[in-house]
Amino acid sequence: MKDTKNILLIVTGSIAAYKAADLASMMKKAGFNVNVVMTQNACNFITPQTFESLTGNRCVTDMFDRNYEFKIGHISLAKLSDIVVVAPASANIIGKIACGIADDMASTTIMASKCPKLIVPAMNTAMYENPIVQDNLKKLDSYGYEIMEPAEGLLACGDTGKGKLPPVEDIFAKVNSMIGHEHDLSGKRILITAGPTMEAIDPVRYITNHSTGKMGYSLAEAAVDRGADVTLVSGRTSLKKPFGVRIIDVVSASDMAEAVFSEAKDQDIFIFSAAVADFKPEKVSDSKIKKKDGEAPEILLTRTEDILDRIGHDHRDDQYVCGFAMETEDLLANAAGKLEKKNADMICANSLNDEGAGFGTDTNRIVLIKKTGNKELPFLSKRELADIILDEIIAAFPL
Ligand SMILES: Cc1cc2nc3c(=O)[nH]c(=O)nc-3n(C[C@H](O)[C@H](O)[C@H](O)COP(=O)(O)O)c2cc1C
Repeated sequence: MKDTKNILLIVTGSIAAYKAADLASMMKKAGFNVNVVMTQNACNFITPQTFESLTGNRCVTDMFDRNYEFKIGHISLAKLSDIVVVAPASANIIGKIACGIADDMASTTIMASKCPKLIVPAMNTAMYENPIVQDNLKKLDSYGYEIMEPAEGLLACGDTGKGKLPPVEDIFAKVNSMIGHEHDLSGKRILITAGPTMEAIDPVRYITNHSTGKMGYSLAEAAVDRGADVTLVSGRTSLKKPFGVRIIDVVSASDMAEAVFSEAKDQDIFIFSAAVADFKPEKVSDSKIKKKDGEAPEILLTRTEDILDRIGHDHRDDQYVCGFAMETEDLLANAAGKLEKKNADMICANSLNDEGAGFGTDTNRIVLIKKTGNKELPFLSKRELADIILDEIIAAFPL
């Protein structure tokens, strides 16, 4: 992040108000300047001091606070902020904004601000489903407010249903996607594959590899933050699904191929970072293969469909194709061969021999292989590399 961005977090009187402390802390640690305004009712759930300690800024609760350093508090805060985040947003504040009521510091600052606004409702299910609240949310949506959908689950009141504050990590990801980065991929549709595939031997056993999906998931997160419309075709992983990404879960190489081919015509960019099995058992046994004394079964393997090869040769001129190569020997020569053979625009070559690179790590070492030459990238986190890979792809447009 180049310039420090200013977030105004508005906390209202919901039982979920305590979770806003985590959110404020996350934002501050990420380098944002965070100001917090609390409604008087919010102060019944959590104290302003908590937010002051976490953000290093004065927490404002009173519109007529004469000790406040800004000349006219609500206008100064509204002008300063790059985004207003109302989290948790009570039914009351949603109704007030929708009706143009400005009777306290929170509602008045919202009314005075011209920056993007994110509303994160949290309330009892009956309140959330109340047609009046729903109409108010629709009205805010029509005025360009971003509204996050509440999560479902056991609520503080003992009811189960929709109305919980979404996980703070998701709120933070949404804020980041709204202001954390330049939206230089806005309007671009990107398909990313990630993770391993699993090729069944019988109902119990399968062949797979060590991929965890971290590189592909980092690419998906980075692309969303930069405004892209992202489809992530994911093999089985234990990673948290990135916020704002359309996920297609797959198991085998043929599932992955089917998903990619059916989505292909709608995409502008393909990034194939999944570790797709090259071979699968020719026959999948219907029942568990039994152990026989002194004998080991022979499993005949056959080739799987080569997704990169097919998209590389079939793609339109206005589509960009990026593949990954993971090698244990002759990395650069093999990756250059792959670029040529698969007719790709770029291959990200990573070696299994480098410490801290490859499967399961948070870091990687990558060489970008293109027809115009190679570019060796420094040893970086997968997220940082994801942004550099996307920079490289963007620079190639218009194709
Ligand atoms: C224990 C308790 C929990 C509450 N939780 C919520 C809630 O999660 N969402 C909500 O909209 N209102 C909730 N309310 C009601 C609001 O606090 C009430 O509507 C208040 O007027 C909201 O004021 P504000 O929007 O100015 O903060 C709760 C009230 C109490 C007493």
